[in-house]
Amino acid sequence: MIKILTFLSFLFLISCNNDKDEVKYKIGFSQCISKDDWRKAMDHEMNIEASLYSEIDFKIFQANEDIELQKSHIRSMIKNRFDVIIISPLRPEPLVSLVEEAHDKGIPVIIVDRKINSQKFTAYVGANNLDVGRNAANYIASLHENKINILEIKGSDNSSPVIERELGFDQIVDTKDNISIVYKIKDEDIHERVAQILDSLNVKPIDYIYAFNDAIAYDTWKIAKGKGLEKQIKFIGVDGLNGDNNGIQLVKKGVLTASILYPTGGDQAIKIAIKILKNKEISKNNILSTTVIDYRNADIMKNQYDRINKHQKDIENQQDKIKQQEETYTTQSNTLKLLLALLILSILLATFSIYSGYSLKKKKRELEIQNDKITVQRNQIKKINEAKTNFFTGLSHEFKTPITLILSSVDSLSNNKTIRDSKLLREVGLIFNNSKRLLRLINQLIDFRKIEDKKFILKASKTNLYQFSNSIYKDFEREAQKRNINFHLTTNNEYLDVYLDRNLMDKVYFNLLSNSFKFTPNNGTISITITDNIESNFVKIYFKDSGIGIPENEINNVFKAFYQGSNNNKSSSGIGLHLSKEFIELHKGTINVGSDKITEFVIKLYKDNVHLSSDEIVFEPEIIDSPILNFNTDYEDDAFTLKSGLSKENRDTILIIEDNQDLIKYLKNKLSLEYNVNTSDGNGALDKAFDLIPDIIICDVNLPEKNGFEICDILKKDIRTSHIPCIILTAYDSKESYIKGLESGADLFLTKPFSFAILYRSVKNLLYNREKLRKHYIKNIYKTEPTEKNNLFEQDFIDEMNKHIYENLDDSSFSVEQLAVKLKISRIQLYRKIKAILNISISDYIQNIRLEKAKSLLKESTLSISEIAYSVGFSSPSYFSSTFKNKFKLSPKSYRGN
Ligand code: FRU
Repeated sequence: MIKILTFLSFLFLISCNNDKDEVKYKIGFSQCISKDDWRKAMDHEMNIEASLYSEIDFKIFQANEDIELQKSHIRSMIKNRFDVIIISPLRPEPLVSLVEEAHDKGIPVIIVDRKINSQKFTAYVGANNLDVGRNAANYIASLHENKINILEIKGSDNSSPVIERELGFDQIVDTKDNISIVYKIKDEDIHERVAQILDSLNVKPIDYIYAFNDAIAYDTWKIAKGKGLEKQIKFIGVDGLNGDNNGIQLVKKGVLTASILYPTGGDQAIKIAIKILKNKEISKNNILSTTVIDYRNADIMKNQYDRINKHQKDIENQQDKIKQQEETYTTQSNTLKLLLALLILSILLATFSIYSGYSLKKKKRELEIQNDKITVQRNQIKKINEAKTNFFTGLSHEFKTPITLILSSVDSLSNNKTIRDSKLLREVGLIFNNSKRLLRLINQLIDFRKIEDKKFILKASKTNLYQFSNSIYKDFEREAQKRNINFHLTTNNEYLDVYLDRNLMDKVYFNLLSNSFKFTPNNGTISITITDNIESNFVKIYFKDSGIGIPENEINNVFKAFYQGSNNNKSSSGIGLHLSKEFIELHKGTINVGSDKITEFVIKLYKDNVHLSSDEIVFEPEIIDSPILNFNTDYEDDAFTLKSGLSKENRDTILIIEDNQDLIKYLKNKLSLEYNVNTSDGNGALDKAFDLIPDIIICDVNLPEKNGFEICDILKKDIRTSHIPCIILTAYDSKESYIKGLESGADLFLTKPFSFAILYRSVKNLLYNREKLRKHYIKNIYKTEPTEKNNLFEQDFIDEMNKHIYENLDDSSFSVEQLAVKLKISRIQLYRKIKAILNISISDYIQNIRLEKAKSLLKESTLSISEIAYSVGFSSPSYFSSTFKNKFKLSPKSYRGN
């Protein structure tokens, strides 16, 4: 489009400039004298004549009697290749060489008025000055018969008119007897000399003054007039110009007796120039005619000149009009061209817009098709990616269980007091360390995926930064000692609390420190320095080491995923630092690196928690639990030594629902020492739970039939099993699965790999809590009214059961079976549930209610003991009495008496 516009404007400009670009002939005129009327008349005639020819460009150069200036004008005309040069020279000599140069270069030269001392020019235009002088002399001679004395005033230089006008005059005077020249002076002396001559008229009278031109003649007349002699003498001048105080008027006024016409030749010079340009034939000498103007023809001459002047004025006016019309024409023609151009442009634009509309439509259609294709492809890719991601994540999660098992087994081995072989122990240590490494890598892969999917939500809790750092510092202490690395942790504020996602920050620390240990040689230095600048909002943690360093040009890349440093030949996944940076940024902090022999990572974290959303803040106890098993530390605690003090019947029952047989075996081995352990691989797990009514359930998430969340949900909503604490084991460490677990009613949520110690303690805690709850129920056992509800579901169950028992209190045949039917569970399930939540058999429970009721009736009613016995469902008063005494150590009678 822009191209079209440019092209059009170009065309338009070309068409507008057409006229101006038409090649014109250049004619230059060098005028020697500028100020007198005769010269002005010459210039005017030239201008008028030149204006008649549109094909010429005419210019006058005024030298103002300065010969050097005139030369420079002529030089410039030659240089600029004028087509014709017209020259009016001042004197015969000075311009000869330039005129000849122009002539030699082929530039036509026309000489006007005064002659030069060369014949190397193209044409001459001017009147014959000899004739001028002759005419003047003849005129005087013809008027008088008696003797006439003449004062001749000639020009001051040696120009051809000066010489020739004198010569012609003198020639005739010499031939006439009646006229003689009594004085001859130069015009420059006239004031003094003419005055002298006039003063001595009595000595030598003069009758005529013949002057070089009309102007000098008039000046002389004025001198004579000053002396009152103007009437005695007659004056004759040359030029015969029309106009105020010029020759013709002066003759008319009687100041001059006559003026000899000397035409300027301006118009002729231009005419000859035009002829030259048109290659027409011309004569070299173009002599203009001259005549005498006196009182007889002055009027005619004046009239003729006036007419000529008027014509010239008309011509000028017409030329002005033509000029105006030309301008109008040019404007109109330009407007027309512009309109034309706009018309063409709009046609082009219209065509273009139709075409573009069409091609846009076509393109749009193509794009739509392409878009559809891309959408289909994208969906396919999305599906493939999702499948890949699911496979990848699933696989990573699957790896976690076997690794947990390996770690746990290795842990057991290391604790096995019977193994004393240090080589074996070393190998066990090797397996442990490498399994941990494997686990770390898998965790990193899972984290990387989570970061990519933006699934991480910060779980930051108030944490003592120094204690936190110290706990990780300790993990590396042993290696530092082994390799004699000067490893230290320092802080300027041991009490500083910051909000950290301990799990993520643990990974960051672990990553930075394991990198440092990887690249720092033995006997090197590694340090962690916490700097709390009290005045700022930030705390900085510096990790420094004297390792191999990072090349300067690579420093910006270290945080990029999969980046491997050029000087790093140790194996590495290349995502550790990338994850660290992402984790720090989740905390709204920064991590930077500098390396100059000493590598230094600087973490900058906000103090306080205003930068976090409430969603990102969680509560965690002060002590930091490491979720990853720690070789030689986790199991050293005596508290985890399992005891099997209770007989089998009195032990609590655990149901483990897990499809990994090795994990089942491992847990069964460990837990069987203290519990009755039942297992399910997930198939029929619910039936088994309903059958068993275990005291606690440990359930995996990924199971063949129903997943762990669903199983837990069903169990918690079923009256038979709702009281059973549920521990969910999962490899999915995400907020979503945590929430799912809570929604399903799970009591605890442990992520794999879990520490057996933590699992063991959790089981213990949950059973202990159950015990506390049991005590609470027992305390409120006989209340008919609903009590303060700690566990809504269980309390509802007990309330409902109590309601049925009270309704049938006087029915001695009301059995456990009937109660179970009313509660819509089996007798055995009722038995187990009551045993589990109240630690009492159901029949004892019912009997206790009967006895408690009897107790209150004994106190508050006047019914007989027999009546009371029947009313609380005993079939015989004696059985009631013995049972009552058994329970309360008092007979009903004594009780009432008390
Ligand atoms: C004007 C003038 C005229 C004269 C002519 C001769 O400058 O002196 O009066 O006729 O020049 O060149």
